[in-house]
Amino acid sequence: MRVSINTIKEMKAKKEKIVMLTAYDYSTAKLVDEAGVPLILVGDSLGMVILGYDSTIPVTMDDMIHHTKAVVRGIKQAIVVGDMPFMTYHSEPEALKNAARFMQEGGSQAIKLEGGVTVANVVKRIVDCGIPVMGHIGLTPQSVYQLGGHRVQGKTPAAALKLLKDAQALEQAGAFAVVLELVPSPLSKLISEKISIPTIGIGAGPDCDGQVQVIADLLGLFSDFVPKHAKQYAKLAGSIKSAVGDYITEVKSGKFPAAENSSTMDESLLAELVNA
Ligand code: KIV
Repeated sequence: MRVSINTIKEMKAKKEKIVMLTAYDYSTAKLVDEAGVPLILVGDSLGMVILGYDSTIPVTMDDMIHHTKAVVRGIKQAIVVGDMPFMTYHSEPEALKNAARFMQEGGSQAIKLEGGVTVANVVKRIVDCGIPVMGHIGLTPQSVYQLGGHRVQGKTPAAALKLLKDAQALEQAGAFAVVLELVPSPLSKLISEKISIPTIGIGAGPDCDGQVQVIADLLGLFSDFVPKHAKQYAKLAGSIKSAVGDYITEVKSGKFPAAENSSTMDESLLAELVNA
């Protein structure tokens, strides 16, 4: 049975930690779903992880819809959350049109967008249209140039208060959960205690109601960079390079393909062809 946003909200009440992970394609999403992750985010981190950009800014709605469709085809149980890209939700008509695209074309069950107080009206309108919304505050990568880099947010009293107000505004607007990115642990704890909806942390400490990670970080797909907030549970970059290296060696030496990877045919037929 598919997980619902009510299940996610109940998990907070039951103090059951919520696990969220990104996925961007069919085969990975299928594995993540089969492993039992209840919330799968088609993040606009797609821009860096899959498309090779150096930020999320160039990602378009068409990119997101294309990858959301692929993820949705791999999922049987999890809620798929589509991430609204840069500047696609700052006017109400645009926001409603693009949120609807995620549901109708992409097939996701929810959307995520960045911002707090400033996007609360838009969040309310989308929720009123029946679309579940996840908020995202703290380090909001689409505003990375405004924020001056990938830095921990909420470190001054004014900035901490602003984050609390942002979380409360999202709760009031009807968001079903909120991502806290690069927020000091004690502040995440306070916010998690003060709002009724689940907080999902990334670089926000252990006291959030759940955690989200970018799958490439978790699987070690980029051997040269591990963000401080991430942990590698596998080192796939090394495994992939070594498998590809073995393949190269075996093709060059003639070891691959072997008889079991090939098929035979009637020898007499072949003889006729040779003499033809
Ligand atoms: O795009 C993304 O992957 C995200 C997560 C980091 C929360 O927004």
